[in-house]
Amino acid sequence: MKKVLVTGGAGFIGGNFVQYMVNKYPEYQIYNLDLLTYAADLTKHKNIEEKENYHFEKADIADREVMMRLFDKEKFDFVAHFAAESHVDRSITEPGIFVQTNVLGTQVLLDAAKEYKVSKFVHVSTDEVYGELDFDPTTFFTEETPLQPNSPYSASKASSDLLVRAYHETFGMPMNITRCSNNYGPYHFPEKLIPLTISRVLNNEKVPVYGDGKNIRDWLHVLDHCSAIDLVMHEGVNGEVYNVGGHNERTNLEVVQTIIKTLDKSEDLIEFVTDRLGHDKRYAIDPTKLEQLGWKPTYTFETGIAQTINWYLENQWWWEQIISGEYQQYFNKQYKL
Ligand code: NAD
Ligand code: DAU
Repeated sequence: MKKVLVTGGAGFIGGNFVQYMVNKYPEYQIYNLDLLTYAADLTKHKNIEEKENYHFEKADIADREVMMRLFDKEKFDFVAHFAAESHVDRSITEPGIFVQTNVLGTQVLLDAAKEYKVSKFVHVSTDEVYGELDFDPTTFFTEETPLQPNSPYSASKASSDLLVRAYHETFGMPMNITRCSNNYGPYHFPEKLIPLTISRVLNNEKVPVYGDGKNIRDWLHVLDHCSAIDLVMHEGVNGEVYNVGGHNERTNLEVVQTIIKTLDKSEDLIEFVTDRLGHDKRYAIDPTKLEQLGWKPTYTFETGIAQTINWYLENQWWWEQIISGEYQQYFNKQYKL
């Protein structure tokens, strides 16, 4: 039996990971710790609430006293650290909370993991810590690419990566850092490009595309990210960084056009709007090191986006309750409506 702490398990990727782990490892105890910020939602875990191997704890990772007490009580074997402020646009308007949660919160968790001798701390980071690539399709981020974060979000993630590395070098903390490309899939909060586009197209509303729409992202289905974290947690070589990605590069315009076409709507819904400040041109992951560990994605972009669009069609209640709440104020402010 292993005890696994999943931080941010009420969010998009952490939530999918909790489901994946609870079902794949019935002999493990899975602890979901989440502060329940605007990005969280627990209805997604209704189906596992009663399971004996699932536990939920509402708490702030930056609350030292609470973290120390919890680690002392539960003696976790593994930590999969997803909890974070995750939206680049919000980091441009409100950077402070990104430092508080992503940097200070991670440091508190590291102290607790060190004190209570966790056997593996998996820090879920992002390809955005590498900065941006130009449009030369033969260049990729590798684990050796220097960290050059451009947004307050990616700077806060890079800072937390460096703290995790330092705890390994200084205190011998057993750890891995994963750096994944853009995820998409079920339960993706509708402030991000793909769920924002699906929900707005379904409601016949304009889709805001930043700049000329030519920026490139490298898309990975969330379940392929989950299997990568599972593998790294169990088999990752102590102290190593692993990039996660499936070679699915698309321009933002291509992504939006694919969704519009699949839903049989008109491209008149596309609206080019003022570009994001410091907008990274291109992300593209070289996943060779993780593949050598035995990982292989199961979705192509085509199969993954079709499954995701279907999920949003079948689960309108989930995203409708989000976009009709305080999200509306966020949207109006962000897009200056
Ligand atoms: P998300 O915003 O959907 O979820 C974040 C979760 O963390 C929420 O449930 C929130 O309530 C929780 N949280 C926030 N502050 C907290 C705090 N102080 N204490 C406890 N819980 C707190 O984010 P996501 O898209 O699921 O991303 C999860 C992780 O994966 C992040 O660390 C992010 O940097 C990383 N990542 C995301 C992507 C992506 O495409 N979304 C890609 C690569 C890496
Ligand atoms: O690369 C991994 C990162 O991917 C994660 O670390 C972040 O947590 C996650 O939010 C995501 O960051 P991006 O900024 O790439 O994702 P987002 O969905 O916000 O934007 C994707 C692209 O679409 C980006 O080039 C900006 C553009 N965009 C986004 C929005 C919200 C638009 O053109 N219009 C929009 O309204």
